[in-house]
Amino acid sequence: MKIRLTIVFAMLSIISFSQEIKENPTKEKFVTELLSKMTLEEKIGQLNLPSSGDFTTGQAKSSNIAQKIQEGEVGGLFNIRSLQRIKDVQKIAVENSRLKIPLIFGMDVIHGYETTFPIPIGLSCTWDMNLIEKSAQIAAKEASADGINWTFSPMVDVCKDARWGRISEGSGEDAYLGSQVAKAMVRGYQGDGTYNNNTNILSCVKHFALYGAPEAGREYNTVDMSRIKMYNEYFPPYKAAVDAGAGSVMVSFNEIDGIPATGNKWLLTDVLRKQWGFKGFVVTDYTGIPEMTDHGVGDLQTVSALALKAGVQMDMVGEGFSTTLKKSLAEGKVTQKEIDAACRLILNAKYDLGLFANPYKYLDESRPKKDIYTAENRAVARSIASQSLVLLKNDSSPSGRAGEGILPLKKSGTIAVIGPLADAKENMSGTWSVATNIQNSISLLAGIKEVAGNSTKVLYAKGSNLDYDATLEENATMFGKTLHRDSRTKEELIAEALMIANQSDVIIAALGESSELSGECTSRTNIDIPQAQKDLLNELLKTGKPVVLVLFDGRPLVLVDENKTVPAILNVWFAGSEAGFAIADVLFGDVNPSGKLTITFPRSIGQVPISYSHKNTGRPLGNKEGKFEKFKSNYIDERNEPLFPFGYGLSYTSFTYGKVTASSTKMSAKGAINVSVEVTNSGNFDGKEVVQLYTRDLVGSVTRPVKELKGFQKIELKKGETKTVTFTISAEDLKFYNSDLKYVAENGMFQAFIGTNSDTENKIEFELVQ
Ligand code: BGC
Repeated sequence: MKIRLTIVFAMLSIISFSQEIKENPTKEKFVTELLSKMTLEEKIGQLNLPSSGDFTTGQAKSSNIAQKIQEGEVGGLFNIRSLQRIKDVQKIAVENSRLKIPLIFGMDVIHGYETTFPIPIGLSCTWDMNLIEKSAQIAAKEASADGINWTFSPMVDVCKDARWGRISEGSGEDAYLGSQVAKAMVRGYQGDGTYNNNTNILSCVKHFALYGAPEAGREYNTVDMSRIKMYNEYFPPYKAAVDAGAGSVMVSFNEIDGIPATGNKWLLTDVLRKQWGFKGFVVTDYTGIPEMTDHGVGDLQTVSALALKAGVQMDMVGEGFSTTLKKSLAEGKVTQKEIDAACRLILNAKYDLGLFANPYKYLDESRPKKDIYTAENRAVARSIASQSLVLLKNDSSPSGRAGEGILPLKKSGTIAVIGPLADAKENMSGTWSVATNIQNSISLLAGIKEVAGNSTKVLYAKGSNLDYDATLEENATMFGKTLHRDSRTKEELIAEALMIANQSDVIIAALGESSELSGECTSRTNIDIPQAQKDLLNELLKTGKPVVLVLFDGRPLVLVDENKTVPAILNVWFAGSEAGFAIADVLFGDVNPSGKLTITFPRSIGQVPISYSHKNTGRPLGNKEGKFEKFKSNYIDERNEPLFPFGYGLSYTSFTYGKVTASSTKMSAKGAINVSVEVTNSGNFDGKEVVQLYTRDLVGSVTRPVKELKGFQKIELKKGETKTVTFTISAEDLKFYNSDLKYVAENGMFQAFIGTNSDTENKIEFELVQ
C-alpha cells in the first residue's frame, strides 16, 4: 500500500506561535498607579526572590521570610511543595503587607511535577513535539494544582560535550531540534498565554546563555565562544522560546566575552530585548549576583548595580538587590528609572497571571486531589517514556536465528534481572524531579514483573554496587536517590548474580549511571559505565546466555566494549515515574521502540565536544573507513566518527529508504522546492520512524557545517507499508548568520539529505538563485 503524504513540512519559515504580551492599557494604568504608591523599599522588594528553605543549592543566606513578606521585601518564593504552605505565605502577602501585592511562586518543574516524564534529553529523543507539549501541559496542570504558577523550564542549553552533567536537562546538541522542543514546551506550560484558566503557568527559558559549553565540560566553568558560533549554534533555542512567548528568562552562571552573563548588558539588553524583542522579566540563577564577586568583577554593591543596569529584574537568593540598591541609588550608581523599570516587569508578570485579580487563583484546595498524579497522567507518562527509549543494538543471541534480534522478549520462561539499577525506584524519575514522591516510581524489576505476567519467572540479584568507590556513589545518590549500597564483597555479589543467571533463559543487565551521576554539578572526566558494573557484565556474558543491556544514563556514555560484546542494548535514560512499566513495554514488544538520539555517542571521551554538524576543515580525512592519514584532521589513535551518530536509533522492524527526489533543482529567493523520499517498513513489526532532513551549504562566505538538521517527520508504518515523505525547503531555511551577524541565505549549490540518521548519504543537489 502506498500513501502519499500531503502534509508539507514548512520548516524554519513556520510563523512562530507568538504569545507576545500585547500592549494592554488597563494593565499599564494599573501597574503605573501601583508603582506610584510604592516606596523604594517595596519596589526593591519585588525584585527579591529569596530561598524558601525547602531546597537550597549554592550559598543561600535568607532568613525571616515571613517578616520580609509582611514588609513588602519579597517578590516571590520558589521550590515550596504543597498548596497549604503556599497559601499560608500568600496570605501574609495579600492580607498583612501594606500594598497587598501577591507573590509569584516558582519551581523547577523540569520534566513533570509529581507524575514525572523522562529527563529532558530522553524527552527530546521522542522527536515528537506533540508529546513533548503534552508533557509540559500535564506538568503545568499538576504544578498549578499545588499552588505553583511559574516553572524554571524549559532548559534549552545546547551541549555537545558529554562530560557536562546538565546535558541531561536539555535537548541535546542541535539548535534546530532544540528550538522545536523549546517552542513545544513553552506552549505546553503557558497555553495560549492568556492565563484565562488556572492550569497554565509562566515559563522561564534558561540558562541564558551558552551554559552548555563550559571549558573542558566542567560545571560552571568559563565559556569562550565566537559570536558567529553563538548565533548559529547556541542562541536559536533561546530565541525560539522567546518567540513562542516565554514570560521569563533565567540568566546563566557562566561568563560571555569575559563578562558574567548576569552582568552582561550586550546579552540581556542588546540581544534579548533589542534584537529579539523580549517583553518579560529576567531572573538570575541561584546566587548569580554575588557569584560575580568570585568572577572578579567587583564587590556586592558593584555587581548588583551591574546586574540591574545589564537587564536583570529579579535576584534569585543573592540578596544583592535587597541589600545594596538603595545605597547605589543614593550614590548615583543606579537610577530610579532603572529600579522602576525592573519592578514594572515583575508586576506585569503578576498581572498577566491574574494574581492581582485573584491572588488565590492557583490555590484551589479541591485541585491537588483530582489533578495530581492521576491515573490518566500516569498513563500518558508511561506512553511518552516508552517512546523516549533508544534501541542502540539488537543482534541475535548466540544461539538465536540470524537476523532475528534478541528483543522483543517472550512473556515466558525465566528472566534474570541483574544490576544496581534493576531495583532502584528512587532513581527512576531522574535528576531535577523535586516534586515527585520517588518512593512511588516504578522500578525496572517491578515493571518487568507486571508486564511479563504470571507465566514468566523473574529472578533478581543486585550483582554490583554503582561503583567500587563508595564516596563517588554517595555523591551520585544525593537527594534520597539511594542505590542502597551493598556491603557484600564484589565476589559475593557476582556469585549471587551468576547463580540466578545460570537458572535463566535470558539476562537483563540494568546498568549505567545513577540519576544523580548526571544533572547539576556532575561533570565527569570518564564517561564509561563504572568499572564495578563492567566487571559484572563481563561475568554475565561468560555464561553464554543472551544478555540485554538496559542502560540508564543522563548523558552519552562510551560503549565501545559493550557494543562489541553485548548483543542487545536499550538506552533508557531516566524515564520518569513510570519508567519500569515503560521499559518493560518495550522489552516485551508491547511498544516498538522509536526513540532516536539527539546527542552523539562518542567512541572515546577524547572526541568530545563532538557533533554531526561539524565543519569540514581544510584537511578533511579522505576515507570513510576511518583509516589514519598523516597531515589530515584526525586522531592517531581513534577514528573521527562517533559510535552512534545523532539521529540514530533502531526499531524491531526495519525501514528501507528510496532515493531522494526533488520537485526542482533550482530555488529562487521567494520560491521553495519539495524534496521527497519513499520509506518502506520492510520488517516484521508495525513501527514508527523519524525521517530526517539535513542540508549542506556547499560554498559560503563563511565556512558551513557538513550537515544541518532542517526538518523531521515521525511517521507510523504498518508492516509492508510504504509512504512518501515530503519536506519543503525555502530560502528562509537556508539562512545563517554571516560574519557581520546578518541572517542571510547565499546563492549557490546545496545538498539535501533524507535518511534514518545524520550519517545518511542519501542526497540530492539543488541551487539557490536569488
Ligand atoms: C539551577 C537552576 C534552577 C535553580 C533554582 C540552580 O542551581 O542552575 O536551573 O532553576 O537552581 O532551583
